[in-house]
Amino acid sequence: MSTIIHQDLQILFSRERIRHRVAEMGRQIDREFAGEKVVLVGVLKGAAIFLADLARSISVDNTFDFVAVSSYGKGKTSTGAVKLIKDLDQPIEGKNVVIVEDILDTGLTLGFLRSLFEQHQPKSLKIATLLDKPSRRVEKIEADYVGFTIPNEFVIGYGMDFAERYRNLPDICLMPPELAPPQA
Ligand code: IMP
Repeated sequence: MSTIIHQDLQILFSRERIRHRVAEMGRQIDREFAGEKVVLVGVLKGAAIFLADLARSISVDNTFDFVAVSSYGKGKTSTGAVKLIKDLDQPIEGKNVVIVEDILDTGLTLGFLRSLFEQHQPKSLKIATLLDKPSRRVEKIEADYVGFTIPNEFVIGYGMDFAERYRNLPDICLMPPELAPPQA
């Protein structure tokens, strides 16, 4: 017996809205990097689906790479500690790099990755995030390309999880507040 997991969930952004917005983001990246090459660096696992769609919306010559990070003590007791658990496969020195992330929340993850990647001296370093939750920011950081700005709500779907579930939902849905993790 299969379990229908998203029939009662409230949709925040439908797959059609996501598709249109990601296509616009791709066109913006195309304009800014016309005639150049770009390395898209996805942050596993949440950004995998966004990267797959964004890359197909980009016409400029692009390659992919992926990193993975783990963070500790998020929330009220945040220590801000972020650790790299999967490094880049290819050097980014002298390259145009776009970090591709699902959500910019406290900013600790992207703050950490930005400083780390800057040490490799890329030609340029930009951040593309599908969602931005500015009200939760701890670290001062802004993305160059933002899909949608959202309030302090916990979302799932289109790559984003709750305890590793729901990443496969085609729409971005709101986690019912009674089930959502506490937001600091
Ligand atoms: P930050 O370091 O707080 O900016 O964390 C960003 C990461 O937290 C994202 O890449 C997600 O993995 C996770 N995250 C933050 N908010 C949500 C949410 O609403 N749903 C699912 N994951 C989230």
